[in-house]
Amino acid sequence: MEFYKVLEAWYLKNKRDLPWRKSSDPYFVWLSEIILQQTRIQQGLSYYKVFTEHYPTVQKLAEASEDQVLKDWQGLGYYSRARNLHFSAKYICEELQGVFPNNYKSLLKLKGVGDYTASAIASICFNERAAVVDGNVYRVLSRYFNIDIPINTPKGVNYFKTLAQELITNANPREYNQALMDFGAMICKPKSPKCEVCPLTESCLAKAENRIDALPVKEKKLRVKDKYFNFIIVDDGTSTVLEKRTENGIWKNLYQFPLIETSKPANLELLIQNDFFEKSGFLTSELTLYNEEAWVHKLTHQHLYTQFWILKIDPRKGLETVPWNEVERYAVPKLIDKFIEAYKSK
Ligand code: ADE
Ligand code: SF4
Repeated sequence: MEFYKVLEAWYLKNKRDLPWRKSSDPYFVWLSEIILQQTRIQQGLSYYKVFTEHYPTVQKLAEASEDQVLKDWQGLGYYSRARNLHFSAKYICEELQGVFPNNYKSLLKLKGVGDYTASAIASICFNERAAVVDGNVYRVLSRYFNIDIPINTPKGVNYFKTLAQELITNANPREYNQALMDFGAMICKPKSPKCEVCPLTESCLAKAENRIDALPVKEKKLRVKDKYFNFIIVDDGTSTVLEKRTENGIWKNLYQFPLIETSKPANLELLIQNDFFEKSGFLTSELTLYNEEAWVHKLTHQHLYTQFWILKIDPRKGLETVPWNEVERYAVPKLIDKFIEAYKSK
């Protein structure tokens, strides 16, 4: 039996019951696909529920404030996804009269929608013959066809996209694409794939040549950069100081405590030399280190070593502060949320 037929038959019996599969409304499918881009299904489910409840239509999402959208996204990471979601909702409402794009090409024009997401929405909602290539698809195809071209190179991306597009030629795009993704997640898993129950096992080349664990091949990653973050927790007894990050980067438009970045782990002497103190007029005599051991936050290309410094001050006029009992309303990076929880429970 042909590859696509085996997968479609398998999917019919084994597909996962997921909330966004109950509808082919592109708005809901779009939401689910953006949430799932860098997130496991199990974690994504609760966020999907919150987003569909708070924003049941693309209009509701467009009308919301970015702060609120980021707050609802808090903890999921890769916040550009939330900013792009909000931006695209406004674009759809303002430029497209609220009508969701209905084909691969026009879906690609949405900010935050790349080849994968456009293919997923076009096939799932409009049954367009656009092959999806996500991590699951790379894994299944590289193993089944025993292909060792690195998947994170332009050559690999091209090769697998072309292969995937050939394989979908006679398939039912909606079912087949999701079949391939579910199959990768449930049978041909990254570790210990279930070859003994796999319906493709007889014709799988990696299985025949005993190369399953070596596939897919990835080229070695860039070196990870270490960064040293020092957050200054101004505390006048009832309130603190938060600032909004405006520079580009993963935490753009989230809130944080005033940040001093240093080129190596900071100690008190190094820190008080920073012109933050001179500019703000805060005295450094009340500055104490909260965590001796830095908290480490690991991102794809950088490791953040984070220390929190407590700066007790007397209440003063003219200083823009946020009451401690309101800080939870602000969208903050997970790391900071964790700190706030720990600090307030002391
Ligand atoms: N992962 C991301 N989107 C998916 C989908 N539509 N089906 C299965 N797995 C997925
Ligand atoms: Fe994946 Fe094993 Fe099936 Fe090959 S036989 S497709 S490696 S699960």
